[in-house]
Amino acid sequence: MLKKTILGVLALAAVALGSATVQAAEENAHTEQQDWSFAGVFGTYDQNQLRRGFHIYREVCSSCHGLDFIAFRNLSEPGGPEYSEDQVRALAAEFTIADETAEGGEREGVPADRWPNPFASEQIARDSNGGAFPPDLSLMAKARGIHMDFPWWVFNYFTAYQEAGADYIYNLLTSYTEAPEGTEVPAGQYYNEYFPGHLIAMAPPLSDGLISYDDEATPETVEQYALDIAAFLQWTADPHMVERKATGFKVIIFLIVLAVLMYLVKRRIWRDIHD
Ligand code: HEC
Repeated sequence: MLKKTILGVLALAAVALGSATVQAAEENAHTEQQDWSFAGVFGTYDQNQLRRGFHIYREVCSSCHGLDFIAFRNLSEPGGPEYSEDQVRALAAEFTIADETAEGGEREGVPADRWPNPFASEQIARDSNGGAFPPDLSLMAKARGIHMDFPWWVFNYFTAYQEAGADYIYNLLTSYTEAPEGTEVPAGQYYNEYFPGHLIAMAPPLSDGLISYDDEATPETVEQYALDIAAFLQWTADPHMVERKATGFKVIIFLIVLAVLMYLVKRRIWRDIHD
């Protein structure tokens, strides 16, 4: 009976691990994994980094990509960039929001509004990008992962690795290179070593010194910008990651204590019975 149960559990584990390989199987070049502040069981988002990432999104990416699932008020929630409510109100007010119920069909933005999409429709977005569609970035860090060979992905289960999306975005943004000789790059496409297929319809959005940071100590390089925007997009995709990890940890401690108690109870109940 016990043997069967153990076999059953092993079979289930094999199926679970197997499906993870399939998920990770999308082919792309070697990934440089980064040291994220939110990695591991006790990782947390770095508020300054999220603010810098938001700055990059706003200054660069927001001209093409939407952030449909983020409302202005999310930017003041605990665990995120944590702007003050006044800052968020002022930010929202900089935008004009289409609203049929308002006089003239438009009104000033309020914190409850979602981030306005740069294009009125997918067709208009495609027309402005040579036919390619710049996808919404809110959940991009969940939609993309990295390829890992066996046995490396097995360790992810022990290190609580959940940063594959951020690693993908970082590597994508830092892998624009000259096309190798003999590779033809059609008009409107750009060579990116990391992107599957290597030809992407997004021009390199970042360059050294493009954006100035208030904090003098942070380098203004493509690598740093890519780290910051990737961290911000990880937060937009998974704003409750830190809470979830903390709850998971408490549950494990609880289960360990419960197991010890159960063992003691079992010993007590069976103490007078000898064979
Ligand atoms: C000029 C418009 C433009 C800007 C600015 C821009 N992008 Fe893009 N982006 C695109 C287009 C178009 C695509 C679709 C590319 C394709 O499918 O070949 C895309 C695709 C992407 C993808 C998806 C890649 C994939 O795996 O499918 C990511 C991630 C991305 N962009 C991130 C960013 C980030 C982060 C920024 C800001 C630093 C940014 N983009 C700025 C136009 C833009």
